[in-house]
Amino acid sequence: MNAAEHIFCSSLFWRCISQRMLLPWVVSAIPLGDHLLEIGAGYGAATAYLRRRAPRVTSLEYDHHAACHLQFQHDGGAGAAVCGDASQLPFADRTFSSALAVLVLHHLKSREAQDQMFVEVFRVLRPGGVFLTFEIGDSWLNRIVHVRSTFTPIAPASAFERLITAGFSGIEIDMRSGAFRLRATRPDSEELSVLSGAASCPPQ
Ligand SMILES: C[S@@+](CC[C@H](N)C(=O)[O-])C[C@H]1O[C@@H](n2cnc3c(N)ncnc32)[C@H](O)[C@@H]1O
Repeated sequence: MNAAEHIFCSSLFWRCISQRMLLPWVVSAIPLGDHLLEIGAGYGAATAYLRRRAPRVTSLEYDHHAACHLQFQHDGGAGAAVCGDASQLPFADRTFSSALAVLVLHHLKSREAQDQMFVEVFRVLRPGGVFLTFEIGDSWLNRIVHVRSTFTPIAPASAFERLITAGFSGIEIDMRSGAFRLRATRPDSEELSVLSGAASCPPQ
């Protein structure tokens, strides 16, 4: 991230916008289950909100400084902050009931790293677990904001196919003011057997 992004993401302004407007839209009515993985948690703008919605929240962050800041916020609570990479998640298979990434995908260095993140999120989710994300689109303004930072925009239409390839189902994408929220589910075992049964049907 560049200096302006660090200032913005650690600001009270962003925390208020996140908790009052953004998160209620992204998370609304979605059961998060007992253990949520917050990916690319930054300075924790969303963390307090998420801890009110899920009994246990694990926050992953790539930047060591921000991860230390998060560790301090989690201190004493039923959660943890972990320094690590979203495309190589340091967690066992089927650990989480849900996963959330706000403004993280476009910070990954390549399309391949994004696809690897989808595969990793699928792996660490339990069957039936839900993946939620919020992303901005490609625009000249967003490119300017990310000068000297990483900006790998993800097109909503391509996200659909790429999530299917990673194994997700029930994908929903909703646009709002040039940004979008995305929801995808790791199918539970019953759904999987129906899907694989359908795939193995002989041609009529
Ligand atoms: C724009 S900030 C958003 C932070 C937070 N989600 C929020 O809404 O305030 C993007 C965050 O993703 C983190 N990030 C970038 N690449 C990452 C990776 N490979 N793994 C985990 N986090 C990453 C950055 O360090 C940064 O904190």
